[in-house]
Amino acid sequence: MTSTKALLCINYGSPKQLIFSNLDLSPLAKDEVKIQVHFIGMNFPDALLLQGKDQYRPTLPFSPCGELSGIVVDVGKDVKEIKIGDRVFAGGMVYGAARTIIQLPKKNVYKIPEAMSFQEAASFCCAYGTAIHCLKDRAQLKANQTVAILGASGGVGTAVIQVAKAMRAKVIACASTEEKLAYCKAEGADECINYTQQDLKSQLKALTEQKGVDVVCDPIGSKYSEMALRAIGWDGRFMVLGFAAGQIAKIPLNLPLLKGCHITGVFWSTFARKFPNQNRKNIQQVLDWYKQGKIKIRIHDIIPINDFIHAFEVLTSRTVRGRLLMKVI
Ligand SMILES: NC(=O)c1ccc[n+]([C@@H]2O[C@H](COP(=O)([O-])OP(=O)(O)OC[C@H]3O[C@@H](n4cnc5c(N)ncnc54)[C@H](OP(=O)(O)O)[C@@H]3O)[C@@H](O)[C@H]2O)c1
Repeated sequence: MTSTKALLCINYGSPKQLIFSNLDLSPLAKDEVKIQVHFIGMNFPDALLLQGKDQYRPTLPFSPCGELSGIVVDVGKDVKEIKIGDRVFAGGMVYGAARTIIQLPKKNVYKIPEAMSFQEAASFCCAYGTAIHCLKDRAQLKANQTVAILGASGGVGTAVIQVAKAMRAKVIACASTEEKLAYCKAEGADECINYTQQDLKSQLKALTEQKGVDVVCDPIGSKYSEMALRAIGWDGRFMVLGFAAGQIAKIPLNLPLLKGCHITGVFWSTFARKFPNQNRKNIQQVLDWYKQGKIKIRIHDIIPINDFIHAFEVLTSRTVRGRLLMKVI
């Protein structure tokens, strides 16, 4: 296997700009693993990257998507932990995953536990890596504290619900429809708020006996950010995860002063690159919870890679519950 077929972004813009084309592979480096890709995990930032709206702006052409699962077909001479034929998943690359054969440094590659399918494994790294980094490292969440999650039925939202429950927190899921909230309840949320129908601030206060929530996880931005911050308790932690609604919220700085609370950024891919050992420990922790049945990976849909335009349209349609995948094999 000296070549790969790669989805390539040749111009920033819509997914219609992508082409599916052959590329030669460079010789395998001594710390690299060559993987035949089976499934590619899709995350909201993949769509932002194509549009040139992400913090990263890769040199063109590049392959989108940052996580995958597959089978090892070759290893560099310094790779001892992973062998040809191993089932593996990989993540933390930001982009480059949407291809049939990939060569990656071993630090990005994990063996798939026996009970986990290729589909689940390709959905794992980004959403669950983000959720545990957010709640454990950044929010310092303790058992019995209250976590409110906006956009709770999405990929990151679902992972935050499950990781917060595994950490024995009380979870308030906030989303835009009753159908999405029923899904969140089934994932383990203790309470639900429909922010298109109910006042987010007063409902969050009412569900916490007016004390306010300990941790808000906000992957959506928009007007709901300030409403949720106004319902945070003393020493609360407001976690800035993303802006899926398209607007970066502007916050009056008197609010953190009056509430004695923290507004904290979460940027998993940069954390994973800067602190690979800490990230590996986090991923291992979530894998342990998976083996104990505390984490259940929810797959919304699996779309063949040849249908990539449709896959990216679904990704940005505000309908995805849990995770979306592209199928290579
Ligand atoms: N900081 C990090 O390290 C990190 C890592 C991964 C992802 N992220 C970010 O987290 C956010 C969520 O990612 P995801 O993969 O979970 O996405 P997702 O599955 O598509 O979920 C996004 C949620 O945002 C809400 N939303 C509100 N307005 C929307 C709109 N106009 N279009 C689409 N969704 C809208 C939706 O919930 P409702 O309909 O219920 O409002 C939706 O369920 C993204 O902004 C992404 O960039 C950050």
